Amino acid sequence: MPHSNILRNILVIALINLSLVVAIFDFDKFFAGTAPSPQLIHTKAVYTNTKADQGSNQILGLTDSFPTYEFCNLVFENRLVSPDSILEVVDKENMLPADYMPSDLHTLDASKYNVTRTIQLRESAYNSLIPMLNDMNAANLEYAITSGYRSYTTQQYAFNYWARYVGLAEAGGFAASPGYSEHQLGTTVDIMSAENNFKATSYMGQTQVGIWLKDNAYKYGFVQSYPEGKTEITGYNYEPWHYRYVGKYVAGQIHENGLSLTEYLYDFYNICL
Ligand code: DAL
Ligand code: ZN
Repeated sequence: MPHSNILRNILVIALINLSLVVAIFDFDKFFAGTAPSPQLIHTKAVYTNTKADQGSNQILGLTDSFPTYEFCNLVFENRLVSPDSILEVVDKENMLPADYMPSDLHTLDASKYNVTRTIQLRESAYNSLIPMLNDMNAANLEYAITSGYRSYTTQQYAFNYWARYVGLAEAGGFAASPGYSEHQLGTTVDIMSAENNFKATSYMGQTQVGIWLKDNAYKYGFVQSYPEGKTEITGYNYEPWHYRYVGKYVAGQIHENGLSLTEYLYDFYNICL
């Protein structure tokens, strides 16, 4: 048989075999097996947060590489994150363990920065707060940091203060119950303004300190947790002084899109609002 005929016969046999393989292969089953599952979200959350904790912008690539899910987690149980993650969810629904205390707290130097008490923050937040405060000092902004890390017990005092001040029914709009405060994470500060007599009232947002923070804090990785007009979502009244460290990438996203941190995190972890 001439070579060309042998080659033609081999080709024909190969094609017949290939079409048989295609015919019996269960593509639906194969692709269904690789479809996204809730477990993937778990991986995504923990992994990206580990990266975020390290201050890496890897978070962008990782989140982008995941498909958009067509569902959200109705019940946020079996915590997706860890209290040590800078993107931990702490709100009216999600409580920290009462004995949680960060292991890497640093104390702010009271001789360099205006503080009304000992202010402690976790290392990542501390390292980002210092340049922000240096820039605030350089801009002659009259601020005072009145709160940083608060333990479960200290939060109980804070809640009791507001309960005495505005009554028990209203206190929940101003202060978190113990275990439910972002201050327990050690990544959150309250920064008040001399122009507002260092008071925790909404006018603080209109002072020079309040305006500067709103325009600039995200550049250092801090965001307002309880912005104006988001009370229905966050559960708390507008707090222009309460800033939480979430890393520069996430802070930039939140600033750019006009989101509250709650909206960002609920979307990030696919939690239903
Ligand atoms: N004031 C905020 C909600 C807190 O107590 O953590
Ligand atoms: Zn606060």
